[in-house]
Amino acid sequence: MNRKPTDIVIGAYWGDEGKGKKIDELMQNSSVAVRATGGNNAGHTVVVNGKKYALHLIPTGLLTETIEAAIIGNGVVVDPKVLIKEIEMLKNDGFDVSKLKISSKAHVIFPYHIAMDKLEEELRSGKIGTTARGIGPAYTDKIKRNAIRIGDLYSPNFENKLFEIVNWYNQIFNLYEDEEEIDYDEVKDDYKRMAAELEQYVTETVTLTHNYIKDDKKIVIEGAQATFLDIDHGDYPFVTSSNPTIGGVLTGSGIAWNKINEVYGIMKAYCTRVGEGPFVTEIFDEVADELRELGHEYGTTTGRPRRIGWLDLVMLKHSSNVNGFTGLVLNHLDTIGKLKEMKVCVGYDYNGEMICEYPNEMEIIKNCKPILLEFSGGFDVSGCKTREELPEKAKRFIKFIEDFVNVPVVSIGTGPDREDVINC
Ligand code: IMP
Repeated sequence: MNRKPTDIVIGAYWGDEGKGKKIDELMQNSSVAVRATGGNNAGHTVVVNGKKYALHLIPTGLLTETIEAAIIGNGVVVDPKVLIKEIEMLKNDGFDVSKLKISSKAHVIFPYHIAMDKLEEELRSGKIGTTARGIGPAYTDKIKRNAIRIGDLYSPNFENKLFEIVNWYNQIFNLYEDEEEIDYDEVKDDYKRMAAELEQYVTETVTLTHNYIKDDKKIVIEGAQATFLDIDHGDYPFVTSSNPTIGGVLTGSGIAWNKINEVYGIMKAYCTRVGEGPFVTEIFDEVADELRELGHEYGTTTGRPRRIGWLDLVMLKHSSNVNGFTGLVLNHLDTIGKLKEMKVCVGYDYNGEMICEYPNEMEIIKNCKPILLEFSGGFDVSGCKTREELPEKAKRFIKFIEDFVNVPVVSIGTGPDREDVINC
């Protein structure tokens, strides 16, 4: 086999960069799709036969007709209620859901995780702005080694373990007047019923994946969230509780580094963020409103309007260092081209000192001002099918990005549809 089997798609910033479109394209020539990290805090939108599907847990690759397996890997945290709803929706629309495989090692989100996520967010003085899906508490229990994995739902010890955990959580909830206790019997019955529904999909996914690799099948790992939401490499504490960067993706799927072909860094021609946290290039004026409307920048999972800012190349360089991007996918070139002028951040001003590398300390990041270069916009890339056909202004913008981070731009998004892409 010449080509290594696995392509990986990773968000270069804070998510919502348009990973779905690249995944969809790669899936046309791949057999297996894998989700490796995060949970239903992610929202991936795909359009199939004119119908829009927003999937939060099931790999979007399942919607590709030629797929052989859509795997929810060991690194994912699974809310069975959400998963069953997605399965039902896809079944009703005629998709073959039997291709779905869930790792028995994936961790389970329970109602006490969701209640705790909300309570912790309420009690925090500096809000994180979580999606309130129980993600943080579920990963906390995983790291504490006091959690229930998918496989445990079928163990004779399940009820005892659940009873113990529910009791522990209730002792905390009882400290707060407005918190309701978790009803152990209700949760136990609900989860036993859901476990029975899901059992047909549960398996040991690492061996399964490696059997596909042995058979020369191509694999796409669908990254969730993004680099600067990474618990280690993101803007801690304004991050999610998993590692969406390359290391977490490999651990969360059980695929080794020497099986990787391409690592695509997905980015837009500007930046967006949902939730709290630093955003050096953030803009608040009418240009931000214009970009938000032009780019339809509203959250898939929560519907929240996204914060908007200029393209930050200091962050992109950091992101590329951490993930080892082999190619950049630059989305929304059409959107930014509609502005008269566009700006790009090439360094930070920290109290008069120029910083060229993304700082580690939150106190420094919070006080950085962007050093911006202006490019003239006002170009139209719609209908361009090759890089050569692009207007000079667009070419200059792309070349500048490539030279700055020393990674080639390999795909360019020129519009919202599947066909609106230039592969260079
Ligand atoms: P959590 O993942 O729900 O704990 O939220 C932690 C932070 O990550 C919040 O700022 C969320 O808005 C953000 N976040 C989580 N998932 C996504 C995503 O898929 N896209 C963008 N932001 C996300």
